[in-house]
Amino acid sequence: MRKNDVGAAAAILRAAKRVVALTGAGISAESGVPTFRGENGLWRRFRAEDLATPEAFARDPKLVWEWYDWRRGIISGVTPNPGHRTLASWEKRFPAFALITQNVDGLHGRAGSACLHELHGNIWKVRCTKDETISENRSVPLKEIPPHCPDCGALLRPHIVWFGESLDADVLGAAFDLSATCDAMLVVGTSALVHPAAALPFRAAASGAKIIEINPAPTPLTGEADISLQGKAGEVLPEIDELLRKES
Ligand code: OAD
Repeated sequence: MRKNDVGAAAAILRAAKRVVALTGAGISAESGVPTFRGENGLWRRFRAEDLATPEAFARDPKLVWEWYDWRRGIISGVTPNPGHRTLASWEKRFPAFALITQNVDGLHGRAGSACLHELHGNIWKVRCTKDETISENRSVPLKEIPPHCPDCGALLRPHIVWFGESLDADVLGAAFDLSATCDAMLVVGTSALVHPAAALPFRAAASGAKIIEINPAPTPLTGEADISLQGKAGEVLPEIDELLRKES
């Protein structure tokens, strides 16, 4: 089996009943959302320690919110691409299909994905720093920076997992369960460097799942993957879909 083989990827998926996709910033790149570590990536231009840690927020909530307000502005102006849309359509194609994403941009939801596990939170949600209540705030730009809770007046924070923080235990537990029980996992547009998300494909492989990676660049997972498709998510996913349609 050739590793860079779309036909072989389609054959794996055709035989699979339980399919999971794990996505990262790369799937939204073609929509115009900057990634973190690539060329022009956010972590090449900004210091995570200043903007995406609880300490940074405690030190300067206005600066942190200004940065998130800027990112919310970018994301509000873009639309889901064929990669997001293909994954959304696969909920109907497979007997069981689940999507686990590291992205906070909400584009999978906008594309129609319903069985969606957002590991790192969502940029359109805010959380009260006093009682942890989560609510939606879609104002672009924000009316008040930093924003405050309309109920209790405490500071609101982005509902996003920052460096040094734990992921939501329920979301992470569901992601590991899905990984341990799937027949095939697609790993799309992630540098596969950030844990615990990066451990999920290894959990899936340990349980016998086939791993299909889609990424224009090699990652630490590439050598472990059964199939490694070197291309853009917005092109490769529709290509696989085309093959699945032809032969279904
Ligand atoms: P990265 O920026 O680390 O990696 C993006 C990956 O997408 C790279 O491997 C690129 O080669 C690939 N890529 C670029 N364009 C692509 C395209 N058109 N199609 C497919 N792949 C493409 O982003 P993540 O792996 O998502 O955490 O980063 C993981 C986490 O680190 C993020 O969730 C974020 C960050 O700190 C938080 O915000 C908590």
